[in-house]
Amino acid sequence: MAAPLLESEVDAFRKVFKMYRRRNPPPDFSDVIDFSKASPSEKIVPVQLDTHAVSDVDTARVGLKPVKQWQASGLRGYPGFIFIANPFLSDSQHFWIKQCLKTYPQKPNVCNLDLHMAPADTEDIWGKSAPSLSCHTDLRKPKTLLEKLRWVTLGYHYNWDVKTYSPSHHTPFPSDLQLLSRHIAAACSFPGFSAEAAILNYYRSNSSLGIHVDESELDHSQPLLSYSFGQSAIFLLGGRRKQDAPTAMFMHSGDVMVMSGQSRLLYHAVPRIVPAPEELRDPVSVPPQDSRVVESVPAEDWLVCRRYIQDSRVNVTVRQVLAAGESFPDNVRSTTEESKKRRHDSSEDDADM
Ligand code: OGA
Ligand code: MN
Repeated sequence: MAAPLLESEVDAFRKVFKMYRRRNPPPDFSDVIDFSKASPSEKIVPVQLDTHAVSDVDTARVGLKPVKQWQASGLRGYPGFIFIANPFLSDSQHFWIKQCLKTYPQKPNVCNLDLHMAPADTEDIWGKSAPSLSCHTDLRKPKTLLEKLRWVTLGYHYNWDVKTYSPSHHTPFPSDLQLLSRHIAAACSFPGFSAEAAILNYYRSNSSLGIHVDESELDHSQPLLSYSFGQSAIFLLGGRRKQDAPTAMFMHSGDVMVMSGQSRLLYHAVPRIVPAPEELRDPVSVPPQDSRVVESVPAEDWLVCRRYIQDSRVNVTVRQVLAAGESFPDNVRSTTEESKKRRHDSSEDDADM
């Protein structure tokens, strides 16, 4: 029988989640780890990456710095957790942000708006939103589709109702994001990683993401990769039990988080979006070189992206669903029904997924 919980242990995670989500009075952020500034300490340990796994030419093609320049850290007590503080080349975030806002929400990918809108109305989310977003903001104006976007799924489309992936609901995974993810996983000593599913989360300034574990993937020996763009967030990393007290850290634009090994199945949550630090607020753009996956973003597109991320954050979590050579078991429901349940909520504090 499991040991009874101490009074102080009961939902320690929930308490911390509520504290960081509180508006009035605002919480004290002094205990939140900032990996962009942190040096090795009691809590933070340097992580040795595989600097030979990916060539400098290959990392540059997807907009990443050479692996030997990445600043990778781990957290004591969380084996398999790797935080890579913004490994992107200065010009490439524009491209990935544009992909998240203009390209990935396009059909055949699936998004929350598909649940209550006709297919024709969600066909061109970017085109329908860009003109209004790029001109001056007027708070009385109705929200654009882009501002109503909460999630997009790629590859094996996650079914929110039954919390599974299925072979019958699959569309091609974007090759650029596949390559980026493969290189990052390889540098973290997972050379066999294959990006098969992704969930993109679109957070407005008052959004949060409830306490959960990502366990729907059939293979947990491969890591979960998470990319952050736009405004910053407080990320809480807990334990194997839902009530375990979490560690709080900032995720800034460009940061990459890898949950692998014993950290792959830990509870986590995003209680709060916080303004990006001044120096990270407006990533610069320089002309790209040839032969790259990453292309330059036209000025008119960047205007829209820039406006959007001024008060939003985009998170991309990339997952391998099946082990190499594995297939779905026969009993996996082949439903294409999507749930009306929303994962993000600014009014619920513990929306389990
Ligand atoms: C998820 C997730 C965290 C984030 O999508 O499963 O945990 O940083 N996202 O937004
Ligand atoms: Mn998650």
